[in-house]
Amino acid sequence: MRLDVFTLFPEAFEWFRSQRHVANALGQGHELDCVNYRDTTPLSGGQVDDTPFGGGAGMVLRVDVVEAALRARYGCDPVELRARRRVVVLTPGGRLLDDALVDELAAEPALTLLCGRYEGFDERIVEHFASDAVSIGRYVLAGGELAAMVLADAVLRKLPGALGHAESAQEESFSAALEGAPEYPHYTRPAEWRGWGVPEVLLSGHHARVREWRLEQSRERGARERED
Ligand code: ADE
Repeated sequence: MRLDVFTLFPEAFEWFRSQRHVANALGQGHELDCVNYRDTTPLSGGQVDDTPFGGGAGMVLRVDVVEAALRARYGCDPVELRARRRVVVLTPGGRLLDDALVDELAAEPALTLLCGRYEGFDERIVEHFASDAVSIGRYVLAGGELAAMVLADAVLRKLPGALGHAESAQEESFSAALEGAPEYPHYTRPAEWRGWGVPEVLLSGHHARVREWRLEQSRERGARERED
């Protein structure tokens, strides 16, 4: 996977890059590059945004600035880029990120993430350059960087070898293995703490019964979630 993140704050990704599963993925040949819109802006003084037409608060990331950054990186008209690789705009009004979308994106050989700032993007960026608009929840963050990290985290941990155990990302909350339901509860030592025990079946060493119990717990959690 070749993951490019376009941002005004590449330094924000330094901590992210050092996370074990990210470092593992990068060690296996996957790539994560940050591109600063400011480095290629055609405007003087490093300007990248402007006030919104029609008035209102905040600043809007300019379409010419994003076009210049994409052209410099990929050497083509960004209108054609989205046929070659998924170009994802992070925006609160986009398609809600869930496990199915993460799986879909993890199967791509290359992804481009575009982070907005302030009031977000000039809509022509979304309309003409992006293949997808993705939201990590119905709330507004001050910028797309945290959303891009959430998406990149969820995608990179799905790549083979990113996690310690091959199975860890297979049978987890919302996966097909659990029929889309939340994961079952986990327990570890001590088996008793302040009188709080652990379900007997987990201590039984009986793998088939453990499996049955876990699926049952997962289904019950799913059913409770639907009631809420
Ligand atoms: N940018 C600002 N808020 C966001 C959100 N909730 N999801 C994705 N990108 C965003």
